Amino acid sequence: MKISIVGCGYVGIVTGVCLADSGHKIYFFDKNQEKISNFKKGKPLIFEKNLKKKIISARKKKNIFFCDNLNQTIKNTDVSFICVGTPFGKNNINLKYIKNATNEIADRIKRKKKYTLIYKSTIPPKTIEKVCIPLLKKKLGNKMNKNCNVIFNPEFLREGNAIYDFENPKRIIVGIRNNISKKIVEKIYKKYKKKSKIIFTDIKTAEFIKYFSNSFFSLLISYSNEISNLCYKLGIDFIDVLNAFKLDSRFNSKNKIPEALKYLVPGIGYGGSCFPKDIKTFIKFANKNKFDLSILKKVDEINSKQPKIISEIILNEFKRKKVRNCLFLGITFKENTDDIRNSTSIDLVNFIAKKKLNIFIYDPIFSKEKFLKNKSLFNKRITYLKKINYNSKFDSLIINNNSIEFKKIVKFYNNKFKSLIFDSRRIYEKEKFKNYSGSGLKSFVEN
Ligand SMILES: NC(=O)c1ccc[n+]([C@@H]2O[C@H](COP(=O)([O-])OP(=O)(O)OC[C@H]3O[C@@H](n4cnc5c(N)ncnc54)[C@H](O)[C@@H]3O)[C@@H](O)[C@H]2O)c1
Repeated sequence: MKISIVGCGYVGIVTGVCLADSGHKIYFFDKNQEKISNFKKGKPLIFEKNLKKKIISARKKKNIFFCDNLNQTIKNTDVSFICVGTPFGKNNINLKYIKNATNEIADRIKRKKKYTLIYKSTIPPKTIEKVCIPLLKKKLGNKMNKNCNVIFNPEFLREGNAIYDFENPKRIIVGIRNNISKKIVEKIYKKYKKKSKIIFTDIKTAEFIKYFSNSFFSLLISYSNEISNLCYKLGIDFIDVLNAFKLDSRFNSKNKIPEALKYLVPGIGYGGSCFPKDIKTFIKFANKNKFDLSILKKVDEINSKQPKIISEIILNEFKRKKVRNCLFLGITFKENTDDIRNSTSIDLVNFIAKKKLNIFIYDPIFSKEKFLKNKSLFNKRITYLKKINYNSKFDSLIINNNSIEFKKIVKFYNNKFKSLIFDSRRIYEKEKFKNYSGSGLKSFVEN
């Protein structure tokens, strides 16, 4: 099929590249033309495992096209995936990009006999019905229902695992208004149909499913962080509690621990471009419908406090041990991504940098170029390291993700300098270290 991608961010790129590799002709368009020209030149727009390989493979199949205008994009295709951002504005979700993209596409599908719009961006329930369809009707008049087919297909990929997630979906959720949509979606996802179940619902249910899913995982994170903070006060290691809990036969019936339980590992709170804004949006959405989502209000509140709580724990230990400098590993919002949107690692490093400490950050996926571009987000006392000089002594290391390279660094500083290790996401086994502590654990253990 000839499909266009409108919005080449994390979701648009991954969706387009995977669909191109699966055999479709994909036309990429973004308002930001610099992105398109960089993409055309082969520069990676985002860091994502196996993305380069997929792009090379799709290009060899001659399935990728780059568009410098929307006219050409719509003219050449029969279906558009709308993958524009839906950030949280001052008080609520900002639907500006969705509205603009809808209007801009509608102007161009007037000339087409049939066109299908598939919204992939995360939008509150009833947005398609109350915002997008009226905009389309205004532009297309009575041609709307005949010429234009509207579908909602939420995206569940996890940055860092996005290619794998896209190609191995357990379920593809599709909100539809008619039976033609079913056939179109089945054709688009033909390659993935064997591995997954396509679930068709009405549009508002599909919009709702995405918020339910992100809320649930955020709930797990805040629940475990709050309980792990209590454990810290009591001198109980929360990981011991969690390891015992995980063996409950209700989770563990086939001796396989569900992936979802990883969300219970204590840490510095959830970040990224989805959970924080989606939880806030869902609360607002419920409010608008005269419903108090009190549990999610607490989830959001606990999350916003977590980086500060952990920074205070770290600073207490640093004071006790007279730590003067610190190597901070990982500033993106999680491993295997260059995305720093709402990264709680950045909140944590800035809290720590308020004290008179020399802080060095190292995160090879987040390049020096990107650091300089985003310098205003960081406390001035922070120095970015391009490389680790193993002759430099660091009194302490704070580790925020499970990158393999970090594991080597941590091992070296533990052995050579007995540096204090603070494992903010409890990746390591505490017994293997000379001086170790982490989220949900009372104090550094000295062997
Ligand atoms: N990032 C994720 O992990 C993820 C996962 C699931 C769902 N989502 C949802 O998917 C959507 C996109 O997220 P993202 O992280 O890819 O966003 P992003 O900010 O990385 O990318 C959005 C892109 O859309 C472009 N754009 C904006 N208006 C446009 C227009 N009118 N025409 C063409 N291009 C336009 C921007 O220039 C930008 O490149 C959001 O709603 C998000 O909540 C994201």
